[in-house]
Amino acid sequence: MKRRILAFLCLCLFLAGCGPKEESPQPKLILRYADNQSDNYPTTLAAKYFARLVEERTDGDLRIRVYGNADLGSENSVFEQVQFGGVDFTRVSLGTLSEYDPEVEVLQLPYLYDDSDHMWRVLDGEIGQNVLESVRSSVGVIGLSWFDAGARSFYTRERVTCLEDLAGLTIRVQESGFMSRVVEQLGANAVQISYEDVYSALQTGKIDGAENNWPSYESTGHYEAAPYVLRDEHSRLPEMQIMSTVALEKVAQVDERYVNILMEAARESALYERELWRKQETKSQEAVVKLGCVVTELASGERARFRQAVQPLYDSYSQEWQTLITKIKNA
Ligand code: GCU
Repeated sequence: MKRRILAFLCLCLFLAGCGPKEESPQPKLILRYADNQSDNYPTTLAAKYFARLVEERTDGDLRIRVYGNADLGSENSVFEQVQFGGVDFTRVSLGTLSEYDPEVEVLQLPYLYDDSDHMWRVLDGEIGQNVLESVRSSVGVIGLSWFDAGARSFYTRERVTCLEDLAGLTIRVQESGFMSRVVEQLGANAVQISYEDVYSALQTGKIDGAENNWPSYESTGHYEAAPYVLRDEHSRLPEMQIMSTVALEKVAQVDERYVNILMEAARESALYERELWRKQETKSQEAVVKLGCVVTELASGERARFRQAVQPLYDSYSQEWQTLITKIKNA
């Protein structure tokens, strides 16, 4: 008898298993997240991680679709779309953001931080928190978290070792008046070109060089046409993960509690990104050196001359921002 009952139960289970599978729940809201980097780049991977956390923690009510490779437009155009709610999330370089919020320029003054730890003490402290909060009123987006983007150095078609070599070269910068000024203080001619167009500008010789971090230098293939790196680490430009205010309202309408879930997932994805970043920085540097790129370290006397050359920039900020600059320096 027991056996028959057992066989009957097994049959029921089997039949239940054969029945139509339960559909994955329909999201209540689908949001779009844009990044101008390729799919395997630390920031894009962190965006996907963020999307996964949010989907899991809202039981599938919120779904975030991540579009890498500038599929939704260049960094500036996506930023503007986030401002009016056409795109829900992105991660933006401080170089781009500063165009819209002059206070942010101070954080990207050249040779401002001693090293990466110094910058993180600033961003993870009161100053960084204030800036994350202030972009809501200054540029109308929600600042979620800080991503790492390392230090930027120059790379050129011909070898550059000192200020004199840089003089008169045409160097691509982000679409940012501030970065143009930095490069011009160092004696070069700055030309603002969108990230996606730098490769061809280098290949055709329209520009003599550009400046960026190791992972960007490698992933874009810029090293193919500009194999000489002058490792001066003039700027550390962290990146901000941001959200549109329109999307925030929509999320709150689905469920108020989801707002905190989003904020927490953003913080966690930033920590994830920083971890990926550290590894990728080394990997990319090693990869390009293996491919024949020549890295010139800036001699310490020369570094002092570079720093001296950008002093007028500091002077121009000292009246309004000296307290902030000193706070950063002392952090
Ligand atoms: C970095 C940054 C991008 C930016 C690019 C640039 O790669 O991550 O967001 O667009 O620099 O130099 O334009």
